[in-house]
Parts: sequence; structure tokens; C-alpha cells
Amino acid sequence: MIQLLKKFCTINLKSSRKCCTLMSGSIPCDVRIVEVGPRDGLQNEKQIVPTSVKINLINGLSAAGLKTIEVTSFVSPKWVPQMSDNSEILKNIIKYPGVSYPVLTPNLKGFEAAVCAGAEEISIFGAASESFSKKNINCTVTQSIDNFRPILKAALEKKIKVRGYISTVVGCPYEGPISPIKVAKIVEKFLDMGCYEISLGDTIGVGTPGSIKKLLDVVLKAADVDQIAVHYHDTYGQALPNILKSLEYGISVVDASVSGLGGCPYAKGASGNAATEDVVYMLNGMGVETGVDIEKLIDVGRYICHELHRNSDSKVNRAYKKI
Ligand code: HMG
Ligand code: MG
Repeated sequence: MIQLLKKFCTINLKSSRKCCTLMSGSIPCDVRIVEVGPRDGLQNEKQIVPTSVKINLINGLSAAGLKTIEVTSFVSPKWVPQMSDNSEILKNIIKYPGVSYPVLTPNLKGFEAAVCAGAEEISIFGAASESFSKKNINCTVTQSIDNFRPILKAALEKKIKVRGYISTVVGCPYEGPISPIKVAKIVEKFLDMGCYEISLGDTIGVGTPGSIKKLLDVVLKAADVDQIAVHYHDTYGQALPNILKSLEYGISVVDASVSGLGGCPYAKGASGNAATEDVVYMLNGMGVETGVDIEKLIDVGRYICHELHRNSDSKVNRAYKKI
């Protein structure tokens, strides 16, 4: 099947990336999954997860073949106590060659602490909605951009790569629907400041392939497809169809969280991201390369769910029986 699909590979001239032609359109042959489980997945946990468990989780994800693993955030421990072991995590995980271990930094204080702990890639995180920005990082959208500027400057001087997140790209828990134009304006600002990639966050998982289409039609006028990643929470069970819709636009970077862990402490009721196991299973079935060993990934998902005393939110993980 994979061989058959590869026969249909064509070159997408705009992104100069190889694409597979499927019935529904052109999709990339390779997808980089950004595993956000250790950060997005755990930040919402009420009980403090032992640092050793977080380290085992991250090492397991590296061994499973994930090439980008967001490991923690250097935010205020008063705001998110679960992430207060950030330096210990970054210093003690096994760093696999060719794997990137980005961390979230909301301000210069967080950036400096991350650099001290050895961060080689960071992410700033803003929002398309004013209310969410205030709840999440205690400032307006404009103030947040002013706060991020010195981080970008310092990071680029040190040759540290910076990813930019934009939350609430479809809907906000406080304001309702968000206009794609608002999102595109922030995408432009983040790219101008020097972010290499922008991850579009459907924080509360209200998007559908219909609203994602409207969003991408506008955003991809402001950015090249190679500069955009997608980050879909699965609250309404739409994460996978939304990822598929995004692949049809040529987007080839997808955020996911092992066993669908996660949520945002400032978006009550939102569930975790697309489960990495489900994303890999879907991509495997389409002949799209991810480099991830699904059996190892399933074991990692079972490990962390066991530690958190819960069932996996990944349907693939629940269904999968080893032969
Ligand atoms: P603030 O209270 O306005 O900050 O918080 P401040 O500058 O007034 O400082 C207050 C105290 O925090 C001070 O300590 C600072 O030193 C300390 P005190 O003097 O009171 O002892 N502080 C810090 N400590 C450690 N590290 C730091 C830091 N900064 C200040 N970096 C702040 C502003 C941005 C810090 C706060 O709002 C914050 O930490 N917010 C983070 C919230 C968060 O982590 N949200 C979840 C991540 S975003 C997300 O999940 C969405 C995403 O997944 C995409 C999607 O799904 O849409 C990315
Ligand atoms: Mg998120």
C-alpha cells in the first residue's frame, strides 16, 4: 500500500515538498509530529506528577522516534505549579541526536532560566483573543507582542530557534468565534519578529473542517505553508478530521499529545490534543511517513496513563492488541 501511494508522489512546487496525491487532494509524504504531551498534556494535571515519571515519559517518546518533543514550560510556578520542575526536566532527559526538545517561555525571565537549563529551542505563546490572552498570560495581545520582542531578539542572537503559538484561532472560551483575519495578523507579526514556525492552536477544540478551511484560506495568504503547524484539541472529537483537512492544504507539522493527554488551565472544560497514537495510525494508513514506531508509542501511552491512574484517550491505544 505504501509503495502504491509513493508512486503517486509529486512535487508541490510552492512548498518544494514532496506530496502524495490522494483522492481528496495533495498531502505531504512526510509529517513531523510535535509531541506536546509532557507539557500541554501534564500542565493541567491537579496532582503533581513526579519528575522521574516525566523524564521516563520524555525518554520513552524519544525512543519511539518522535523528532520534536515539547518537554516543559518556564512559566510562573504560581500560575502553573505542575511545571515548576522545568530545569530539572530539561537537564536530566536523554537528548537523542536529531531530536529537538523545545520549551515554552512567556517572558525574558522564563527565557533566561530555559537557556540556563540548556534549551536550544523555545516557544512563545500568544492568542488571537484579548480575553484569553489576559487570562493566560496576564496581558493584552499588543502587550504580549511587546513582551515577546526582546525574547526573540535574545534568542536569535544565541541562535536559539523560536516557535510561535497562537491560541484560540477558531474560538475563545470567553469571546466565542474568532475571525481568521485576527489570526493572520498575529501570524504576520510573529513571522516578522523571527519565529520559524507558527502553531495554530484550537485551544478549546471547537473547530471543524469547515471552520479550519476558512482559517487556512486566510492564514495561508499571510504565511507559507512550510511555516504553519496545527495544534488541535479534541474536545468535540474534531481533531483528526481537522488535521486531515490541514494536510490537504500541504501543512506537514502536526502537534499531538500521547494518549490525548492535556488541556489548558485557562480554558476550562477543553480536553487534550489529538492523541499521537491516533494521528500516527491515521498517517500510517495513508502511507505518510512520521518516523514513529507505533508499538513503542503505545507502550509509552500505557505507561503514562498507568502513572496517572486513567484510561488512555487514544482510541488506537485502547483498541491495539500486540500480535
Ligand atoms: P504575572 O503575574 O503577570 O507576572 O504573570 P509578573 O511579571 O508580575 O511576576 C509575578 C511573579 O511571577 C513574580 O514572582 C515573578 O518573579 C514570577 P514574585 O516576585 O511574586 O515572587 N515570574 C516567574 N517565575 C518563573 N518563571 C517565569 C516567571 N515570570 C514571572 N517565567 C506570566 C505573567 C506570563 C508569568 C504568567 O501569566 C504565566 O506564567 N502564565 C503561564 C500560563 C500557562 O502556562 N498557560 C498554559 C500554556 S499556554 C497553552 O496551553 C496553549 C497552547 O497549548 C496552545 C493552544 O492550545 O492554544 C500553547
Ligand atoms: Mg494546547
